[in-house]
Amino acid sequence: MKIITILGSPKKKGNTAKVLSMFEDEVGKNHEVERINITQYKVGGCLGCYKCQEKKDEPGCIQKDDALAIFEKMIQADAIVYASPLYCWSFTSQIKPLIDRHFCLISDYGTPDHKSLISGKLAALLVTCAGPVEGNCDAIQSMFTGFSEYGKLTAKGNFILPFCTTPDAIGDKGAELAGNIAKAITG
Ligand SMILES: Cc1cc2nc3c(=O)[nH]c(=O)nc-3n(C[C@H](O)[C@H](O)[C@H](O)COP(=O)(O)O)c2cc1C
Repeated sequence: MKIITILGSPKKKGNTAKVLSMFEDEVGKNHEVERINITQYKVGGCLGCYKCQEKKDEPGCIQKDDALAIFEKMIQADAIVYASPLYCWSFTSQIKPLIDRHFCLISDYGTPDHKSLISGKLAALLVTCAGPVEGNCDAIQSMFTGFSEYGKLTAKGNFILPFCTTPDAIGDKGAELAGNIAKAITG
C-alpha cells in the first residue's frame, strides 16, 4: 500500500509532526509512506475561475504550482492522511489552500455523474489541539466529512489528540492514537 501523509503544521517538529511520525514509523514497516510537509510546497489559493471543471480526467487547474505535484502523488496513492493542528477551530492556513484546490480533482458534484480523481482512496484526519475535542473540534471534523464525501474518499476516521502542550509531553496517548490510525488505514 502507498500512503501519502500531509502535514499542515508550520512546525516540522511540533505536536502534529510528532504523532504523524509515530504513525509513519508504524505503517512504514510494511508499506510505502511519503510525507508532504505543506510548508515546503508552494500552493496558491483557489482563484475560483472554474477552468478546471472543463477537464474531467486530469487536474485541470490553471495555476501551475506545487499543488499539481501533490495531487499527482495523491492520485498514485492508496491512502491519504490529512494532519493539522487545530487553528481557530479549523485547519491551518498553510493546508487550507490545498484543501480548496481539491476542487480541480472533482467534477459534476451533486449530479449522478459526480466524479473524483481520488475516488476510493482511504483517508484519515489527524488533529492535535490544546483544548478538548467536544465543542472545539466540530468544525474541522465537519469539514473533513464534507470533503471526503465531495472527493469520494473512503473516510476511515477522525483521530484527535486533545490537551496537547509540547511534543515531549505527547507520550503514550499519541502513540495509541497513531496506532489507531495505522489500524484504520492498513488493518
Ligand atoms: C494560531 C493558533 C490557533 C489555535 N487555535 C486553537 C483552537 O482553536 N483550539 C485549540 O484547542 N487549540 C488551538 N491552538 C493550539 C494548537 O492547536 C496546538 O498547540 C497544536 O497541538 C499545535 O500543533 P503543532 O505543534 O503541530 O503546530 C492554536 C494555536 C495557534 C498557534
